[in-house]
Amino acid sequence: MIAVLGGNGHVSSAFAAELERRGLAFRVLSRSELDYTSFAALTRFLRREKPRFLINAAGYTGKPNVDACETKRADVLLANVVFPQVVANACETAGVPWAHVSSGCVYSGGRILEDGCFRVEKNLALPHLRCLVDERPECVAGYREEDVPNFSFREPPCSFYSGTKALAEESLAGAPGVYVWRLRMPFDEVPGPANYLSKLLRYERVYDNVNSLSHRGDFVRACIDLWERQAAPGIYNITNPGFVTTRQVIACMQRVWKLSRPFAFWEGDEEFYRHAAVALRSNCVLDSSKLLAAGVRMRPVMDAVEDALDRWTTGRPDL
Ligand SMILES: NC(=O)c1ccc[n+]([C@@H]2O[C@H](COP(=O)([O-])OP(=O)(O)OC[C@H]3O[C@@H](n4cnc5c(N)ncnc54)[C@H](OP(=O)(O)O)[C@@H]3O)[C@@H](O)[C@H]2O)c1
Repeated sequence: MIAVLGGNGHVSSAFAAELERRGLAFRVLSRSELDYTSFAALTRFLRREKPRFLINAAGYTGKPNVDACETKRADVLLANVVFPQVVANACETAGVPWAHVSSGCVYSGGRILEDGCFRVEKNLALPHLRCLVDERPECVAGYREEDVPNFSFREPPCSFYSGTKALAEESLAGAPGVYVWRLRMPFDEVPGPANYLSKLLRYERVYDNVNSLSHRGDFVRACIDLWERQAAPGIYNITNPGFVTTRQVIACMQRVWKLSRPFAFWEGDEEFYRHAAVALRSNCVLDSSKLLAAGVRMRPVMDAVEDALDRWTTGRPDL
């Protein structure tokens, strides 16, 4: 049996669907049924049920968005930093291998090819870099797993949410045999409040930036593939290869759904943060070649976006 922590969450429910599809026995735990944030309760459960693997897909993301984490700091710290340590200790005590769902939001920007070398650029939205992204995308590369997070408490500024996700990764670095799976701005064909594509449809104005993304179904498939292949533990960027600009995703929506509705964009960071956001947003490009080297292939990001729009479960949005 595989234990999944996170109740009916956005990510835990996708793991449950994929485990079901593969015919693998699993049990999803919700805090209302078993307080898995308690070391004693979780250890008792692990010793009794002896799962062969545990996936921690529980955490505090902030609703309706990451801004909520700025005001609920104690809850965010407990859920995103202290709790993963509880899981690490319980799993080590009970001898259960496990994986932690982290986030790509621990970075800002990407790596830019200049004079034959890559250099870090934390803001790809600067006008001259946006031109580079559109015109010479081959000159933009993502952060690799060995790159130290640069949108974190150690390298501010960052959002409180991102700071806690980076701190959890740091605190898990010494834990033996643990996978850290980085998800990034999940999307798929099922409309919902946590789906990046639904969010774009909902915004009054859209913030244009450059990002790697993870198709939610592709993400959980890749994670379970890694485990089934017995890939080396450690951090993995689990994003669909490549990156997109928000404008490219919107253009794809307009093409696939034949939308005539115009989308309005914020003029830039200054206007966006003055009117629409409290916490700084992580926008970043990730390199997923470690995943590929482990034998796990994901679709290129734009193929996955177009496919999700094509298969949008409620049909073409009526806009
Ligand atoms: N959604 C995203 O955009 C995104 C992107 C990158 C990474 N992630 C990471 O993916 C993981 C799951 O996120 P999600 O999007 O599935 O969030 P979600 O839909 O809010 O589900 C998270 C689950 O965690 C449990 N939980 C909530 N508050 C908690 C707390 N204070 N302490 C312990 N558990 C708590 C809840 O399960 P119970 O039923 O057990 O209470 C909840 O269903 C998180 O670690 C998040 O940081 C998410």
